[in-house]
Amino acid sequence: MFTLAHLSDWHLASPPRPADLALKRALGLINWHRGRKYVHRPDVLEATIRDVRSRAHDHVAVTGDLVNFSLPDEYLRARVLVETLGPPHDVTVIPGNHDIYVRGAESSPLTFWGDYMRGDDGIARFPFLRRRGDVALIALSTALPTAPLLATGQLGRRQLAALSDMLQQTRGAFRIVLIHHPPLTPPARHLRRLVDAAEFLAVLARHGAELLLHGHDHCCTVVRLDGPERSSIPAVGVPSASARARHHGEDAAGYNLFRIDGRPGAWRCELIAHKRSTDGDITEVERQMLS
Ligand SMILES: [Fe+2]
Repeated sequence: MFTLAHLSDWHLASPPRPADLALKRALGLINWHRGRKYVHRPDVLEATIRDVRSRAHDHVAVTGDLVNFSLPDEYLRARVLVETLGPPHDVTVIPGNHDIYVRGAESSPLTFWGDYMRGDDGIARFPFLRRRGDVALIALSTALPTAPLLATGQLGRRQLAALSDMLQQTRGAFRIVLIHHPPLTPPARHLRRLVDAAEFLAVLARHGAELLLHGHDHCCTVVRLDGPERSSIPAVGVPSASARARHHGEDAAGYNLFRIDGRPGAWRCELIAHKRSTDGDITEVERQMLS
């Protein structure tokens, strides 16, 4: 039995100084003051992390948007909290669009969290591969600076080709793909989509995977993607770990546990969803067998 905890979208925010106010950050700051600062709260995030730490698990995945404006102070605060979840061997971090929010921040996630974002080969480059027992974690980056009002992500040809190779190389393991942006986006979220989702879905359909985990939408969702030979791949989204309450269709804070056992061709994976209630407690809200 291998237990993975999944959390995402912390949105730790430090107010930008006037000198840091690129147009994108200025618009983001307006958005923050109009509502998000009341939603994404450090005390809520700390409570979620405490609850994760109180449950037995073998590994933690954090799928991006740990910070909000890509400021040095935010990366440092996120680093401190990542360390409370465990050492780099037991915690895998990938970036989201808010972690490379503006030009000039491209290398910051690696600078601050690099030891949590490298493969077993020690190389800090996406995608990276970590094997933990029967589990293979394949970590992607969709983060790149975008124009104001856009929150899109992109994998690019090189990562898609390397993903194909890694999925083949790890066939037989329980392959978990980690990505910030969801592979499917409704039309209303077009400006927040993964722009090369079609190519990504084609790679998954060709090579398969046992599980895909993403953040970005701040909701607990389960959809099925096409895998090879009429198989399906469960793709599971997780709420933001810092959301004080439900807001504009996004869930209150939560995290997911995955209990994985079995063997190649006969894996069992159970999703156990946890969510913050209106009185601030975090409780188990759903159990679902995914395979
Ligand atoms: Fe995001």
